[in-house]
Amino acid sequence: MSVRIAVLVSGSGSNLQSLIDASGADPDFGAEIGVVLSDRDGVLALDRARAAGLPSVVVPWNRDRSAFTTEICDVVDDHGCEAIVLAGFMRILGPEAIQRFPNRILNIHPSLLPSFPGAHAVPQALAHGVKVSGVSVHFVDEEVDHGPVIAQRPVPVLPDDDEASLHARIQEQEHEIYPAVVKAFAHGRLTVDGRIVHWEDA
Ligand code: GRF
Repeated sequence: MSVRIAVLVSGSGSNLQSLIDASGADPDFGAEIGVVLSDRDGVLALDRARAAGLPSVVVPWNRDRSAFTTEICDVVDDHGCEAIVLAGFMRILGPEAIQRFPNRILNIHPSLLPSFPGAHAVPQALAHGVKVSGVSVHFVDEEVDHGPVIAQRPVPVLPDDDEASLHARIQEQEHEIYPAVVKAFAHGRLTVDGRIVHWEDA
């Protein structure tokens, strides 16, 4: 039986696409996208959801984080989803979401956390002059880009990189690592012990 997940998006949705593709290609993926949720209309991610025949819902940001979070969680529940996968979602969910879905909210972030949390990880890595950045997938807790790390991949920063080239190289890794993590999660192979996540082999 598949675990139903809600995928939350705000932008181009390339990570959503990697999950759609993985669930189509891998009969043992174990996760089924029950709804795609966006905080804004007119984004490519919603086109991708429609093209894949997935239900999509727009919950516009309304400046009241608590009411916004309740609405999002209600939509997730209404679609029978047990977990939330953040895939480029540009809003911060309130604590209610963590209470309603404890250790059941995943996020992907374009740096090796705890370096460069927040919305500008890629330009900050370049400005800082680091030689290696990367991608992190983590469980979401009350703090931004802070919860227990599930998986990371390093990505070298090349001398002539700009934001677009570095982000593109990071995204190549994102599109492999996120489906792998979601599959492990769906199969119950991830256990959280404080800040430490154990990943049991298949
Ligand atoms: C990704 O780089 C992800 O790490 C970050 O936002 C970006 C979303 O890209 N959280 P996409 O919308 O999945 O293409």
